[in-house]
Amino acid sequence: MEKLKTEVLLPEEIDKAAQLLAEGQVVAFPTETVYGLGANALDPEAVARIFAAKGRPQDNPLIVHCTGREQVEELVREIPKEARLLMERFWPGPLTLVLPKNEVVPGEVTAGLDTVAVRVPAHPVALSLLRAVNFPLAAPSANLSGKPSPTRAEHVLRDLGGRIPAVVDGGETGFGVESTVLDCTRRPFRLLRPGGVTLEELQELVEVSLAPGHLEEGPPPSPGMKYEHYAPEAEVYLVSGPGAAAKILELSEALLRKGQKVGVMTWQERAGLYPGLTVLSMGPEGDLPGLASRLYHLLRQADDLGLEVLFVEAVSERHLGLAIMNRLRKAARGREIST
Ligand code: TXA
Ligand code: MG
Repeated sequence: MEKLKTEVLLPEEIDKAAQLLAEGQVVAFPTETVYGLGANALDPEAVARIFAAKGRPQDNPLIVHCTGREQVEELVREIPKEARLLMERFWPGPLTLVLPKNEVVPGEVTAGLDTVAVRVPAHPVALSLLRAVNFPLAAPSANLSGKPSPTRAEHVLRDLGGRIPAVVDGGETGFGVESTVLDCTRRPFRLLRPGGVTLEELQELVEVSLAPGHLEEGPPPSPGMKYEHYAPEAEVYLVSGPGAAAKILELSEALLRKGQKVGVMTWQERAGLYPGLTVLSMGPEGDLPGLASRLYHLLRQADDLGLEVLFVEAVSERHLGLAIMNRLRKAARGREIST
């Protein structure tokens, strides 16, 4: 790939970003969840540049970001009544709806599926960019495929610096985990990826079924479910149950003796349980929104610290904990220990 100089744009320079996008280029920008790598969703050549920059498998479809429901209506064949309820309640916000697509949406965006994933982001920079261009933006997370999603412009630069023309620096994103993906083409609606809008919040309005995990039998219902994600270089072990600390200490002792660099990700109040280990603090115990917002930064810190093994204490799967544990399971790639 040709080496580019990646320009860091300020939110005041949104017109420059819009200009690049109008020329068919890709630009990274902040959303309320994570940074996205955007391109004109209606231009197959522009969309191809997203896949090339990220090294993303071609069969993993993209989310199309819109200014509002009116723009979504131009891309889909129909919107079920219950999906309209969800749009009213959660948009703009971290909820992505999978709907039947119409002929306006190129197959390059949807990896040939006859559905399209759409959302209206709640970040002021994302919204002003969408308003400055007059087309919807296809945008996956702006990381190299397989890496943790970027929650700061510096994360984008580390992964995609030299591979994309520009990133708009809007500071740290809010939620820190990606949007919730909900398949609205089947009844009941099906949760494909837990995210910023919680299952409990959705269930207040509609019936929701859970997609089988990607380790179970059968084809994954969402192409993204089968790929490795959110993985730092370190081997991640997800440890749950009342004996977690004792187990982590026991296992790390042997590793430390072999000279390995070992870390543990735990709540701030529990840091003292792990003398001798590098502690990555999850913040105040039980603060799931706080943990979500720093999760990917912590996983990237594990790389910066050169950790070879990272033990992570499991958290509750309620509310944002469902999205957090989903990402941690993928980072652990099946290395789970319950005590
Ligand atoms: O918060 C977010 O959603 C961020 C920001 C940038 O908006 N975007 C993001 O995109 O996380 P990405 O590409 O990393 O994840 C999109 C997910 C993938 O798991 C993909 O398989 C799924 O959405 N998806 C996209 N289109 C789909 C479709 N038509 N049917 C089923 N799943 C789909
Ligand atoms: Mg992603």
